[in-house]
Parts: sequence; structure tokens; C-alpha cells
Amino acid sequence: MSWVLLLAVFAAEPGYVDSKACQPCHAGIYALYAKSGMGRSFARFQSLPATANYTHQGRRYLAAGNTMSRGAISLGIDFVIGSGNHSQTLIHQRSAGKWVELPLSWYAEGGGKWRMSPGYDRLDHSEFTREVSESCLFCHKGYTPELAIDCQRCHGPGEAHAKRQGPIVNPAKLTPERSLEVCLQCHLESASRTLPDSILRLGRRVNSFRPGEALGDYRVFFEFARPAESDRMTVNGAGYGLLQSACYLKSAGKLQCTTCHDPHSEFTLQEDRFDAACRSCHGQKHEAARTDCSGCHMPKRRTEDAVHVVMTDHRIRRDARPSLARIAETHGRMTGAVRPLYPRLLADSAEIRLYRAMAEGDAASMERALGELHSTDARAYFELGEAWKKQGRLVEALAAYRKSADARAVVAAVEILLRQSRLEEASGLLEPAVRQWPKDAKLWSSLAVIAVGRGQFAVGLQHARQALALDEEDHLAWWNFGVCLEATGDKAQAQEAYRRSTELRPPGPR
Ligand code: HEC
Ligand code: HEC
Ligand code: HEC
Ligand code: HEC
Ligand code: HEC
Ligand code: HEC
Ligand code: HEC
Repeated sequence: MSWVLLLAVFAAEPGYVDSKACQPCHAGIYALYAKSGMGRSFARFQSLPATANYTHQGRRYLAAGNTMSRGAISLGIDFVIGSGNHSQTLIHQRSAGKWVELPLSWYAEGGGKWRMSPGYDRLDHSEFTREVSESCLFCHKGYTPELAIDCQRCHGPGEAHAKRQGPIVNPAKLTPERSLEVCLQCHLESASRTLPDSILRLGRRVNSFRPGEALGDYRVFFEFARPAESDRMTVNGAGYGLLQSACYLKSAGKLQCTTCHDPHSEFTLQEDRFDAACRSCHGQKHEAARTDCSGCHMPKRRTEDAVHVVMTDHRIRRDARPSLARIAETHGRMTGAVRPLYPRLLADSAEIRLYRAMAEGDAASMERALGELHSTDARAYFELGEAWKKQGRLVEALAAYRKSADARAVVAAVEILLRQSRLEEASGLLEPAVRQWPKDAKLWSSLAVIAVGRGQFAVGLQHARQALALDEEDHLAWWNFGVCLEATGDKAQAQEAYRRSTELRPPGPR
């Protein structure tokens, strides 16, 4: 893969530089940080920790050299997420600059092993088609084309400072709240994957957070309102746990992540900091035990979102209990009432009601709040459409999608229209959309279906080929290509296209 393409995928944010620029003047911190988990949180793929041969529900996955395969399908491995301190997930870069997660991950526990990636311990998993989201990358890498989390994710844009022409953020000089938020931008998750536990504010881009600004101006965090006894842990649970601890709640902001952790240092070098940190507030009054405070009060527990991983419970308690027993992966999106988690004091407003409804997937409340706000936000209307669709309310879903200037909304609206055989309306939406987003494979793929519906098979084939040229690993594009081929009477090639589609994503059990 070429550098040029990589640069196009990660356009650097203005004011940010390659953190190699920091090295000459901060050589000590630079060298130390490079060895830390965060300094290795993302990388270009080098080599496998071991070859893989793992069978899950009757399907055999192999990984060797720089590819992962199952049956006839074999995808190149381009990037690695995770330092491997706990686990590593492998990434394949699709032709269209889209990234997909690969189904096997490497887990360090017990000397190392290959198992299904988090979320894949089920028969109808996403196989080779789950796209790596922008938020996944927000937490795991820098804002520059450089790969891992770099200095500037905690210190803000450093271009001017590196030229000795301006200041740079030092978290230690911020207020306690702003300082903790430098870490919470990535370490605050009340649940993972299964629900949106935080909502990006309207008008904000994912990569727009700057250290020193109020985290709540960027994103609002929620947690499920559920009984206290359903005490659970997620992989990324440190911030959530800490915010619930008496130590944090009753020490007026004095307890920071940096009270116990050196952000620049390799984790294993930090152990002797922990007891000292507890004693800095609790003195020697605990006569029963003077050492290993965290061993009893912050035990290791197995996480429910990545069942092959154990993490440290940051909810410091009297009666903490370790729990390393195996647990089964749970699936299905969690739903139900949520309550605001962070920032703590949120004035009630239409905007906050909107975010809350987005977290709950409550379409009616979303619609009401959007009306009150007189908003035309494309993302919000797309999500509103999704929420209505989940409830089976297609008329409302269609109306919401139509209000959204987002290519995903057009694809979703067209899908509904096509199912209702409203070809002309679908085409009326698609034609201008393809002009606006000519590189969106899914739009071309939908155009192909319309052409076939009109009996224009040659045109359909052309559009389907265009979709595949943009993204040759889109399983739906292959399926539509097959439909066009079949319609033109090319049975053999159609079978081949269907085969490609089901290889990329086999249908689940029915
Ligand atoms: C040309 C040398 C030079 C380069 C390059 C440089 N720094 Fe510095 N940095 C310094 C010096 C000297 C200080 C201490 C004086 C000061 O605060 O400006 C400093 C201080 C800092 C501080 C503490 C600021 C404070 O207010 O306490 C941080 C944080 C920092 N640098 C981060 C970085 C990062 C991140 C980079 C790369 C983007 C970088 N520096 C590049 C020379 C440099
Ligand atoms: C850009 C997102 C991001 C920010 C900002 C961030 N972290 Fe992390 N942190 C991560 C990720 C991702 C990992 C897991 C890295 C890995 O091992 O692959 C991690 C890992 C860690 C670890 C585990 C050990 C290690 O060697 O890395 C500690 C401790 C930690 N972070 C503390 C902090 C503290 C303290 C701050 C604030 C000063 C902070 N983090 C800010 C994303 C972030
Ligand atoms: C909200 C921020 C956030 C998001 C989003 C996120 N991660 Fe993480 N991830 C973290 C943090 C923080 C850690 C470290 C947790 C710890 O060590 O307690 C981590 C740990 C990991 C690890 C284990 C690293 C190690 O060896 O310790 C892997 C692998 C990983 N994440 C992959 C992913 C993938 C793949 C996605 C997208 C599907 C993702 N993460 C999304 C923040 C995030
Ligand atoms: C995970 C967040 C994080 C990352 C990444 C990070 N820093 Fe820091 N840095 C901090 C925090 C927090 C402080 C304040 C520490 C304290 O509480 O004294 C700090 C302090 C500093 C200081 C002030 C002086 C000192 O020695 O404490 C310098 C200089 C600095 N960092 C440079 C860098 C450079 C260079 C890099 C990249 C190689 C880097 N930092 C990466 C969080 C980070
Ligand atoms: C910044 C100061 C600070 C630090 C550091 C700190 N604590 Fe606390 N901790 C407190 C305060 C304040 C309370 C609340 C005391 C009260 O309720 O009277 C508390 C409460 C506790 C409790 C009782 C919680 C409960 O369930 O009621 C335990 C146990 C505890 N701390 C253990 C620890 C351990 C172990 C560490 C180190 C890993 C630690 N603390 C670090 C300030 C701190
Ligand atoms: C009172 C001390 C204390 C505070 C405060 C604290 N941690 Fe930790 N942290 C620990 C201990 C102890 C461990 C486990 C150390 C070990 O395994 O040797 C740990 C481990 C971690 C890990 C490694 C993965 C895991 O779960 O084992 C991450 C990531 C982490 N902390 C992030 C954070 C972040 C982010 C904050 C602030 C929101 C924070 N910690 C605040 C004591 C603390
Ligand atoms: C062998 C396990 C163990 C170790 C090690 C341990 N504790 Fe505890 N700690 C407990 C238990 C059990 C309780 C609850 C006792 C009770 O409620 O009477 C407790 C209670 C506490 C409390 C709340 C009790 C109070 O006085 O209000 C604090 C604070 C505390 N521990 C701090 C620490 C610190 C600091 C250290 C390290 C110097 C430490 N613990 C080491 C088991 C341990």
C-alpha cells in the first residue's frame, strides 16, 4: 500500500505535526513513551505473533504470512489495533480506503492464543465485512498520518511550540476537571459496542476534540439506568469505574488518573506508584495490610464485552471481588432508559433531550427535540430514520431519511422505496446523490438494482461494475452484480458473483 493513499486516509488536523518533531528536545520522554501501550496502540502490520489455525462453529480460519483466510476467501493484513498487552485486532484495508476488522484476534492471556474478535463469538457474525469506525480510530491513534496515539492527543497541536513560537498544553496546569478529561476523551465508556453510550454533539467532528476544552462541549456521556446489582466491567472501563469511586467523588477533583499513572511510562514500570498513591490520601490507617492496596480494592475482573480479557476494576470499593471465571459473550443491542453520566451537571434543554433520545433509540422523542431545535443536522436525521426503521415505522423512517443530507440516508431511503417497488421515487433520490458522492459504492450498487428493475440490464451491469471498482469487497455489491448477471442470462458468472458475496459474509443461521 502506498504512502500517498495512507496520507489521503488520515488527513492531519491543522496545527498538528509528526511527533518525531518532539524527539530532539524531549528525547527521554519520547523514548519512554514509545514503549508504552498507548505508544504502540496502532501500527502498520509487520508480522503475526504466531500462525493461526482456529475452528469456530465449524468454520476454519487460518492466518499465515500477511493474510487471513477462510475457505476460498483470503484478505491481506494491513494494520494492527492494540499493543498486544491484552490483545490485538488485525485490519484489512479495502480497495476503497475502507478498513475492515478481521474475525480472529490475538489474546495475550495464558501465553497467547487466537480466538474470535470481540463480538464474533456467534454463528452469524460479520465475518470479513465489519467496517472499522472512525470512533475506533479516534481512541487508538493520533490525528496525524503517524500511527499510534501521539504526544499531541494529550498536549494538543504542537506545530507552533515545536518551532518555539508558541505555548503547548500541559495537562498538569489545567483545572482538575479539564486535566482528567484529557484522559476521559478516550477512557470513558460505560458500555461498549452494544449501544451508543456517548453522543457527539451536533456540528462536531469526531477528530475535533482539543485538550484543554470542556469534554462536555464535544460529547455527552450516558449510562444505563439499571439496578445497582448488575455490576459489570467493560474493556475500557477505567474512567467509568473511577468516576463511581468514593475516592474520586469525595476528594474534590484531587484524584486524577495521573495520581497513579505516569502517562509517558511503560505500564510495568509503574507498579510502585500505586501503594504510594493510596497512602497519599489514606495514610497508614489501614493496619491490617500496608501493601498491595490495589490488589484487594482494585481486583482484576473478566470483561463482558471482550470475554477473553481481564482488566483492573477502577471502582475502588471496600468489598471489591475479583472475578476471573469464564463468561459467555452476550449479544443483541442493550436498550432501555439511560441517564446522563458526564458532564455531571447538564441543564435540561432540547439539545440534551435529543442526545438522550439518541442513546435510547427513542425515535418519537428524537423527532420532537429536533423540531424544537429547528435542526437540519444530517447525522441526526439519519439516526432518526434508523430509529424509526428499527420500530418498523417505514413511513416515518423514509420521511426522516429524506431530510438528511447524508449518503447513508439516501441508501437507506432507496432500500425502503425499492422494497415497495417505488422505482421512480428511488431513482429521483439517487441520481443527484450519485453526482454529489460519486465515490460511494453503495449508491452505485443501488442504481444497479433500479436499472435491473426497469429491465435495463446492460446499464445495471455497468453500475454494478462501478460499485465493485470502488469497493471490490462489498458483499452487497457482489450480490447486486449477481442479480444483474442473472437477469442478462449469464448464469455461470452470476453464480460466481453470489459465491463471492456469501464468502465475504455467509448468511447466518435461519
Ligand atoms: C526546539 C525544542 C523543542 C521542541 C521541538 C519541542 N519542545 Fe516542548 N519544550 C521545549 C522547552 C525548552 C520546554 C520548556 C520551556 C517551555 O515551557 O517552553 C518545553 C516544554 C514542553 C511542555 C511543557 C509545557 C508547560 O507549559 O509546562 C510540553 C507539554 C511540551 N514541551 C511538549 C512538546 C511536544 C508534544 C512537542 C512536539 C510536538 C514538543 N514539546 C517539541 C522545547 C521543545
Ligand atoms: C487518544 C486516546 C487516549 C487518550 C487521550 C488517553 N488514552 Fe490511555 N489508552 C488508550 C488506548 C487505546 C489504550 C490501549 C493501548 C494498547 O495497549 O493498545 C490506552 C492504555 C492506557 C493505559 C494502559 C497501559 C499502557 O501502557 O498504555 C494507561 C495506564 C492509560 N492508557 C492511561 C491514560 C492516562 C493517564 C491518560 C491521560 C493522561 C490517557 N491514558 C489518555 C487511549 C487513550
Ligand atoms: C472510547 C475509546 C475506544 C474505542 C471507541 C475503541 N477502543 Fe479499543 N481500547 C480503548 C482503551 C482505552 C483500551 C485499553 C483498555 C485497558 O487497557 O483498560 C482499548 C483496548 C483495546 C485493545 C486491547 C489492547 C491491549 O493489548 O491492551 C484492542 C485490540 C482494541 N481496543 C481494539 C479496538 C477496536 C477494534 C475498536 C473498534 C471496533 C476499539 N478498540 C474501539 C479505547 C477504545
Ligand atoms: C496519554 C497522554 C499523554 C501523552 C500521549 C503524552 N503526554 Fe506528556 N504529559 C501528559 C500529562 C498528563 C502531563 C502532566 C504530568 C503531570 O501530572 O505532571 C505531561 C507532561 C509533559 C511534559 C512536561 C514536563 C514533564 O516532564 O512532566 C512534557 C515535556 C511532555 N509531557 C512531553 C510529551 C511528549 C514529547 C510526548 C510524546 C512523546 C508526550 N508528552 C506524550 C500526558 C501525555
Ligand atoms: C485523592 C485522594 C485519594 C486517593 C489517592 C485514594 N483515595 Fe480512597 N478515598 C478517598 C476519599 C476522600 C474517600 C471517602 C472517604 C469517606 O467517605 O470518608 C475514599 C474512600 C476509600 C474506600 C472506601 C470506599 C467505600 O466503599 O466506602 C476505600 C476502600 C479506599 N478509598 C481505598 C483506596 C485505595 C486502595 C486507594 C489506592 C488504590 C485509594 N483509596 C486512593 C480519597 C482517596
Ligand atoms: C488509585 C490508583 C489509580 C487511579 C486513580 C487510576 N488507576 Fe488505572 N490502574 C491502577 C492499577 C492498580 C492498575 C493495575 C496495575 C497492574 O495490573 O499492575 C491500573 C490499570 C490500568 C489500566 C490497564 C488495564 C487494566 O485495566 O488492567 C488502564 C488502561 C488504566 N489503569 C487506566 C486508567 C485511567 C484512564 C485512569 C483515570 C480515569 C486511571 N487508570 C486511574 C490504579 C489506578
Ligand atoms: C488483604 C486485602 C486488603 C489489602 C491488601 C488492603 N485492604 Fe483495605 N480493606 C480491606 C477490607 C476487607 C476492608 C473492609 C474492612 C471493613 O469494612 O471493616 C478494607 C477497608 C479499607 C478502607 C475503608 C475502611 C475505613 O477505614 O473506612 C480503606 C480506606 C482501605 N481499606 C484502604 C486500604 C489501603 C490504603 C491499603 C494499602 C495500604 C489497603 N486498604 C490494603 C482489605 C484490604
